[in-house]
Amino acid sequence: MPSLYPLLRPLIFSLDAETAHEAALELLNSLRFLYPKSTVLKPVSVMGLSFPNPVGLAAGLDKNADYLPGLLRFGFGFIEVGTVTPRPQPGNPKPRMFRLSRHCSIINRMGFNNAGVDHLLHRLGDIGQRDYVLGVNIGKNLTTPVEHALDDYLVLMDRVYPSADYITVNISSPNTPGLRTLQNEAELEQLLSGIAERRRQLQDQHQFDRPVALKVSPDMATQAVAPIADKLRQHGIDALIATNTTLDRSAVQDHPLAQQAGGLSGAALKEKSREILYLFHQELGDDIPIISVGGIDSPQEAQLRLDLGASLIQVYSALIYEGPGLIKRMARSITTNA
Ligand SMILES: Cc1cc2nc3c(=O)[nH]c(=O)nc-3n(C[C@H](O)[C@H](O)[C@H](O)COP(=O)(O)O)c2cc1C
Repeated sequence: MPSLYPLLRPLIFSLDAETAHEAALELLNSLRFLYPKSTVLKPVSVMGLSFPNPVGLAAGLDKNADYLPGLLRFGFGFIEVGTVTPRPQPGNPKPRMFRLSRHCSIINRMGFNNAGVDHLLHRLGDIGQRDYVLGVNIGKNLTTPVEHALDDYLVLMDRVYPSADYITVNISSPNTPGLRTLQNEAELEQLLSGIAERRRQLQDQHQFDRPVALKVSPDMATQAVAPIADKLRQHGIDALIATNTTLDRSAVQDHPLAQQAGGLSGAALKEKSREILYLFHQELGDDIPIISVGGIDSPQEAQLRLDLGASLIQVYSALIYEGPGLIKRMARSITTNA
């Protein structure tokens, strides 16, 4: 794909962040026939799945699986759609997404705006045969009390199990009140044991297994890492996704938008995301693979995460700042241990 992004970026950045995001995705989907699909092959095997390359799209960009044909032109080895909730919901009032351009960062408080699981499954049904790995990221509806969150996750497991290559349990968005409390030890125990039990039932019913990943926040105390790692092992979770966005504003405190409510992503999250990766890798070793996400914005940063112990990486904010050519540049240059 020729690199038009440096030309298009000023136009895109002249629009409000969410409008630009939607317009770019619509444009991309309609122009997809101009661009042949070509994926860099650096095959890796993780969670029992074969990935054409280890560079993936993080959750939240294609919440409803509406843009897969266009996004695949970027050359991702895997794409995570969602977060999807059982019922459709509008999310928070707009504006709810802000660019902090001089920090190559974003603050968002989207609040799981999505068209619901029926819509997502309908979209996936249209796609047919896939030559990439598809993750489905699941979360609870805003109106479901956090004490009943498990019910929503179980409904979603039942529904997406046949269509997803892997399922991500998202308990780390800062924009759904109470969601992150599910990372506390007692709550996590209850959640993961419920999920593990349902997974066994689904495995019996369908006669195939689906790997399950847990996506965590970067805003945890160092002491919280070991107990979470234990729970992952205990309940047979197949991968850890680290990390979601941060509430910490120390890296952007000089910016006029720094006090906007929501989760911060992009370059300002880089240090924290590296640190959490390092800490979890110390605990998990090679037992449970880690998918590193947060501030990955260059082939060098992608390589660093793999060298720090990640098996796969995901990108979101850097796509907006660097453009889609970044994905193939990363995939071409990295060396995996596979
Ligand atoms: C606008 C926006 C929406 C997001 N929505 C979701 C979401 O629905 N579910 C989720 O697990 N993560 C979501 N994320 C977090 C990303 O998947 C990723 O974990 C985070 O942005 C850090 O990666 P990055 O620095 O490459 O952006 C969202 C991020 C952004 C910027």
